[in-house]
Amino acid sequence: MKSKKGLFQRTSFAAALLLSATSVVSAQETVTERLSPETRQILVEEMQLLASAMGPLHTAIITGEHHAVAERAHEIYDSFVLKQKLSAAQRKEIGTLPQHFIEADSEFHELAAHLAEAGKQENPALERFYFEEMTRSCQSCHQDFAGGRFPGLVGGTKDTHSH
Ligand code: HEC
Repeated sequence: MKSKKGLFQRTSFAAALLLSATSVVSAQETVTERLSPETRQILVEEMQLLASAMGPLHTAIITGEHHAVAERAHEIYDSFVLKQKLSAAQRKEIGTLPQHFIEADSEFHELAAHLAEAGKQENPALERFYFEEMTRSCQSCHQDFAGGRFPGLVGGTKDTHSH
């Protein structure tokens, strides 16, 4: 297994830890609003790429295209190429976001790595499992850190089904 490699992880953790003590996230807040418009835009673009990658990934899983699953999941793990767009100053800026946000990003990228591995193993059930886990991770981060953008996720119960 490769080392953890979230988009936000190569930022200063010490700075993140220090500042996160003072930055309490309210349910209605979207934490990226704290960033400069340029840095925020890079993250929004990454999100749009993620959203457009999930559909083809799903199709590859349900059609048994294991090689495509591995490749596409690995692209997500690598955050495409967007992270290369971040300047040192922008990375530092992202390091000031709450530590839990940075952890959520790291967890998400780890799930993508697991999915890529499931694809390599040509294991359809495991692929499905990790796709579902990734979906949970998208939703959970939006609920916790982008409540202002996604009010439909706020106030409901978490990770439970209502029938
Ligand atoms: C670590 C937290 C985190 C994870 C994980 C995450 N997101 Fe996001 N996402 C955000 C935040 C924060 C915003 C709000 C960005 C803003 O408006 O500044 C956002 C916004 C978005 C948007 C709206 C973009 C726009 O056009 O404004 C989409 C679409 C999106 N995310 C898709 C996804 C998908 C799909 C996944 C999972 C495959 C995912 N996100 C995982 C934090 C996350």
